[in-house]
Parts: sequence; structure tokens; C-alpha cells
Amino acid sequence: MPSKKRMLPTRTSSKRSRAPRLVALGLRRRFQNRLLKWYQTYGRDLPWRRTSDPYKILVSEVMLQQTQVDRVIPKYHEFLEKYPTVNALAEAKPDKVRETWYPLGYNIRPYRLHSIACETVERYGGAIPQKSEDLLSLKGVGRYTAGAVRSFAFNEDAPILDTNVMRVLHRVFVGEGNAKAQKAKLWILSEELIPKGKGYDFNQALMDFGSMVCTARKPYCLLCPMREFCKAFPIATMRQK
Ligand code: ADE
Repeated sequence: MPSKKRMLPTRTSSKRSRAPRLVALGLRRRFQNRLLKWYQTYGRDLPWRRTSDPYKILVSEVMLQQTQVDRVIPKYHEFLEKYPTVNALAEAKPDKVRETWYPLGYNIRPYRLHSIACETVERYGGAIPQKSEDLLSLKGVGRYTAGAVRSFAFNEDAPILDTNVMRVLHRVFVGEGNAKAQKAKLWILSEELIPKGKGYDFNQALMDFGSMVCTARKPYCLLCPMREFCKAFPIATMRQK
């Protein structure tokens, strides 16, 4: 009997997991193909997409929490010039790190990043770990950041779910109710939607799509390649003010 929790028709078997899928194969493929195609044309050339250094990617991800991309870019360069490695950051005085961070805001973040660097030096000899449980054991690294480091630095098909991704997946595949209340389901969705071997591009594409098309206010539904099957269309458009 189908579980009440299921959002959409499901398949019951797959090579990757025995758990029932939340989204049927055909729809998954359409979403994946359209998103990756969109990203090929519109994806942004961002400095942290030009590196696979896990430390640099971690710095960018911590900076991007709550701060807009265009404000992060100059600070990302300045920060890495001053603290080019995990070891350099671990050796710095926390208050100096905080000064370099200014004026990005949310000032607990430079202290957290510094403490992650110290722990990484002590426990992993200065190499940011790749395994999910090791990343999550670092104080200040949550599920989102661990997924971002695994997919962007280590090319793993690891899921991510930040506010942008949550909004996109909720609109396209759920369409109603409160996205935050469905976080657990959206994490599962974010994992099962990743096309095998393409976690890096797919996750970066989700980020760009959420901030350029499926925006929080006034989404660009009429230009959206997902509108044919988006559960929130045309509701999201009609709600525009
Ligand atoms: N926000 C958080 N991570 C990001 C990334 N890798 N690219 C663009 N925006 C982001």
C-alpha cells in the first residue's frame, strides 16, 4: 500500500537504493536533463568553481551562508591570500581572522572556520576529510556544508539542501505547504535526483537555478524549463507582487 508520505508516483526498485523513490524515473530524468542543460548555458563562472581544493571550497561555503555571491567574491580572494591553507588559518589569531572577515556579517562564522581549521590540523594533519561522518564531526560543519564539500571538492554524488535548493525542490516536486516542515523529505529528494556521477554539476546547477530563476520573490516562471511539470506553477507566478 502506498505510504501517505509519498509525494509522487514511485518506483520500487533501483540499483542505487532499495527504498522507494519519491519521484518516478521519467520525471527525474526530465528534471535532471533540463537543469543540466540550463546550467550549461547560464551557469555562473565563480571563483570557487575554478578549484577543487577542499579548504578553498569550505571557505567559500561558509562565506556563502547568509551572504550574497557578489559580496562574497572579493572577500573570498582576500581571505585566501591571507590564509592560503588550513595550516595558515589554524595558526592565525581568531580575532585577526574575524577582522579579515569584516564586513561579511554573522560574525560567529570566522571563529567557526578557524576552529574547523584547528581541528583539521589536530585530527587530520591539515587535510579536510572526505568522509561524511568525519566532516560532520567537525564542530560547525552541518549536513549542508558536508554535502557541499563532498560534491564540490571530492566529486561525490552527495546531496545538498540549503534555502535555495529547498525552495526549488519544494516548488517543483511538492508545490504546497511549508518547505521547512518537509526538510527530511527534501533531503531524500535532493539525494535521489542526482544523476549518477554528476553530483558536482547538478548541485552547482541547483544553486544557480535557485538564485537566478526559481527565486524566492518574483520567480521567472515564464522562462523556467521546469514549468511544464512544476507543482507550484502557476501558483508561484500568481503570487508575484
Ligand atoms: N551558495 C552556496 N554555495 C554556492 C555555490 N557553490 N555556488 C553559488 N552559490 C552558492
